[in-house]
Amino acid sequence: MSWNRFRRVLAVTCLAAGFGWSVGAAAEPQKGPGGKDAAFATDRDTFHFLLENHKAIKRTVKKLDNGVETVTESDDAEVTKKIQEHVPAMYERLKSGKGVRYWDPLFVEAFKHGKKMKMTIENTKTGVKVVETSDEAGVVKVIQAHADVVTKFVEKGFEEARKEHPVPGPEKKK
Ligand code: HEM
Repeated sequence: MSWNRFRRVLAVTCLAAGFGWSVGAAAEPQKGPGGKDAAFATDRDTFHFLLENHKAIKRTVKKLDNGVETVTESDDAEVTKKIQEHVPAMYERLKSGKGVRYWDPLFVEAFKHGKKMKMTIENTKTGVKVVETSDEAGVVKVIQAHADVVTKFVEKGFEEARKEHPVPGPEKKK
């Protein structure tokens, strides 16, 4: 092999290795299949129950400068209970970095920045009132995009849960 060809092969190999490494690093907080944590089965059963019963859920989202204020409720007592279990469990996951939906870009991004998110959860009679905020503008966008996805889960159930959701891009200049 000529010296020039050797250098080209070396450069391509290093680039590919670097790319693989950065993709792996970006995906680091969550676990892929086979890497499920102890709470995963319980948490999955809960959000599957919510998706199945999405028609029994009502939700409002108010956008704040630094996040969202949401109210998610149901007249069905079992659904109320599951909503009240789901939200603290997901907040715990944001803090520990043990992700879910590792194949969905928006969720990967949320778990990457989970430690920069603050959530206050107040149980109402029939659900939860959540205020979720961040001091970082980019993370605020992720919180707001995620809140819109939860609203779509409520509207469409499993039909929406099968879809990927994009990471919000930078503000377009007018
Ligand atoms: C109808 C179904 C669902 C309901 C009613 C629901 C409800 C909620 C609520 C109320 C929050 C607090 C934040 C907010 O209000 O915007 C939340 C957060 C969260 N949910 Fe769900 N959820 C549902 C489905 C799912 C599914 C299918 C997943 C994942 C497989 C999921 C994962 C999460 C995560 C990771 C968070 C914390 C991330 C964040 O708030 O930025 N949820 N969910």
